[in-house]
Amino acid sequence: MSESKAVKERALELLRSGLDFVDTHCHIDGEEYEDDRAAMLERARAAGISALITMGTDLETSRRAASLAAHETMVYAAAGYHPEGIDHVPADDELQAIAALTKEEKVIAIGEIGLDYYWEKDEAVRRIQREAFIRQLRLARELDLPVCIHDREAHGNTFELWKREGKGVRGVLHCYSGSVELAREFVKLGCYIGIDGPLTYKNAAKLPEVAAGIDGSRLLLETDSPYLTPVPYRGKRNEPTYVPLIAAKCAEIRGESLEVFAARARANTRELYGI
Ligand code: NI
Repeated sequence: MSESKAVKERALELLRSGLDFVDTHCHIDGEEYEDDRAAMLERARAAGISALITMGTDLETSRRAASLAAHETMVYAAAGYHPEGIDHVPADDELQAIAALTKEEKVIAIGEIGLDYYWEKDEAVRRIQREAFIRQLRLARELDLPVCIHDREAHGNTFELWKREGKGVRGVLHCYSGSVELAREFVKLGCYIGIDGPLTYKNAAKLPEVAAGIDGSRLLLETDSPYLTPVPYRGKRNEPTYVPLIAAKCAEIRGESLEVFAARARANTRELYGI
């Protein structure tokens, strides 16, 4: 058998592991899944994904996420204003609209919120991002809900704001891309660390060190679908179905069995999100 064929067969085997997984961060409300959303969810279920959390990025996508959660048993939602493309600090009524969505039973977090300095180079807009982040951390504290944090090339400011404004807030740093040292600092402040498909890439850089080097009780699994598809499906659209592939890589790097690792990741999800 060729190497690539063996890799694909191993992947298919993992998608039939019979273990219980949650995709703690994805975006399934968009047009990427318009034609096959029901089939995609069915595939995920067959791969052991018992639940997924689809993230809002603004009011419209948060409403769509909430609506999906209301109609699909396995779907939960988060609501919030994402830093990418933000052009003003959310006003009180805009924050109240997010708060109102969280009154729905399956809207369980404020997200996706945070800082993105990779796409945003303008210091004035970065200031808007920071203010929006602060206001949503405060909202999460008021509502007693966990937050899902996006941090792209803004590690210093994200850490500083989480330390200052995140007191008493539970949260996860999603799709973590920093160093293991910084991850440990976030963990000390009560944060979870979300691991995605890039862990399976040859150029995963610092990520294997992070997966191996932080307390296992703080790791969460996520796909960030439709982006960041894990190997061997890299290049195709991502979907929650592939969580076991990320889990298997993580377990391998940590020198743990998939069963033990998956059970702990599942428990961590319950701990943070209550699902
Ligand atoms: Ni995301």
